Amino acid sequence: MSPRARAAVLVSGNGSNLQALLDASAAPDFPAEVVLVASNLPTAFALERARQAGVETLVLEHRAFASRDEFETRLAAELEARRVDLVCLAGFMRLLGPTFLRRFPRKVLNIHPALLPAFPGLHGPRQALAHGVKLAGCTVHLVDEGTDTGPIVAQAAVPVEDGDDETALAARILVQEHKLYPLALRLFAEGRLQVDGRRVRARGAAVAEGLALRNPGV
Ligand code: GAR
Repeated sequence: MSPRARAAVLVSGNGSNLQALLDASAAPDFPAEVVLVASNLPTAFALERARQAGVETLVLEHRAFASRDEFETRLAAELEARRVDLVCLAGFMRLLGPTFLRRFPRKVLNIHPALLPAFPGLHGPRQALAHGVKLAGCTVHLVDEGTDTGPIVAQAAVPVEDGDDETALAARILVQEHKLYPLALRLFAEGRLQVDGRRVRARGAAVAEGLALRNPGV
């Protein structure tokens, strides 16, 4: 069996997506293992989840660095020192620029709580409600230098119900995030994602798996 890909997960908050990745990677046949959880905020509950799972944690407070470049240079160096192959952003509320991304080219995934390219940036569910869409959802994408603009790997849709407020819609989306992110990481770690411009195909993925990625709830 080939060695598992070494993944770092970057977090800033609760870490429920981190938990989904930790749970998936606990299975020995999952093709990635989480070797580091790094947060820019020392108070992130995600750090506690990592400790519970016995995974190394690192806090790098962005405010302690003189510039974004210095923060990113150090972050990249910490990951390289741990021989990290893949990076997953899971509620990591900092934009990553070229200083970091050049050191992990096409190696960084993000999950976003909207059907991109609609509603990038902050508060995806709030934006979706304000716009009055009937379908909302989540997207896993490769990270480029824009805000939630990188090639789309997988999406899952959920209905917007008449009585929804932001909390209810975000919770419905989150259920799908927790299914979608491990599936996407699996394909990513297996080297099965073929990127052709903006289009990402999952090489060798069974039809059923492709469908599941579009809507894991079905
Ligand atoms: C998730 O909904 C994630 O998609 C979102 O933050 C939440 C983090 O929850 N990310 C973004 O909005 C990034 N733009 P979690 O900490 O429980 O995983």
